[in-house]
Amino acid sequence: MSALELSGVSIALGANVVVRDVSESVEEGEWVVVIGPNGAGKTTLLRAIGGLLAYDGEIKVGGEDAARLRRDDLARRVAFLPQAPVVPEDMSVADYVLLGRTPHLGWFGRERADDVAAAVLALERLDLVPYARRRLGSLSGGERQRAVLARALAQDAPLLVLDEPTAALDVGRQQQVLELVDRLRAAHGLTVLSAMHELTLAGQFADRLLLLDGGAVVASGAPSDVLTTERVARHYGASVRVVADEHGVVVVPARAEMAAEVSGRAGSEWQAPESARSRDPRSGAP
Ligand SMILES: Nc1ncnc2c1ncn2[C@@H]1O[C@H](COP(=O)(O)OP(=O)(O)OP(=O)(O)O)[C@@H](O)[C@H]1O
Ligand SMILES: [Mg+2]
Repeated sequence: MSALELSGVSIALGANVVVRDVSESVEEGEWVVVIGPNGAGKTTLLRAIGGLLAYDGEIKVGGEDAARLRRDDLARRVAFLPQAPVVPEDMSVADYVLLGRTPHLGWFGRERADDVAAAVLALERLDLVPYARRRLGSLSGGERQRAVLARALAQDAPLLVLDEPTAALDVGRQQQVLELVDRLRAAHGLTVLSAMHELTLAGQFADRLLLLDGGAVVASGAPSDVLTTERVARHYGASVRVVADEHGVVVVPARAEMAAEVSGRAGSEWQAPESARSRDPRSGAP
């Protein structure tokens, strides 16, 4: 049974169809990374899986139709980490991480010893114990991002849906957090679906990549198959070199090739990537 199964998922926001007919499954223990240019629909797709947006089609989590699950039932199965979380500035880090246990609490909403233990473990895993009593509003962007991730881990769900989990982190923390997620995946059989902009990190940690552009999946497969110089030029308007190594691929921006790769004619003006050029004007998208 797949950990996550999407069948014909389309999502409209206002007058725009932002996600178009996505059918994909993610197997238990797999790490799938959704990549794609700004506005491709990554966040929209992940928010729908997290139960935060209405959609057409079907989303199954652990074999169950997500639309039929009660909110706390879904939250015990899917931990969703938003791209730009709004956090209560005055709340302590410890109390915030404990909120991750909400879907596990009983009728009276009181935490038990195992809820506190799960929150402490999440704080430890993200090196946040020294910050436990600090107000969220007093943290740096990266510290806050770790607190949000700790809250998602405390939720103890078998499927982690992470929208740009490393965006605010320095290069060392990026690697540490992704290695931690990978270790948890190996040790507890977690399934991970994340959106990431950093193509090298995506190419090193993902089992499989989904490249989204204009709301549709335009490529899917092993990082070395999806991340080609040609595809990155076409969908991002970027010039890169792709280097294979034992963990996957490394994607290096390479300015010297920019003019030729992106415009197709050396020395001519920069052209918008396909994502921007091919947008249907009738969709109302900018
Ligand atoms: N409420 C809304 N009404 C109309 N369009 C919206 C709405 N919210 C988002 N969009 C549009 O949907 C498209 C997809 O947005 P989404 O946030 O899913 O992109 P993304 O791939 O996560 O981009 P990024 O890499 O910048 O995070 C964008 O063009 C965005 O402007
Ligand atoms: Mg996004």
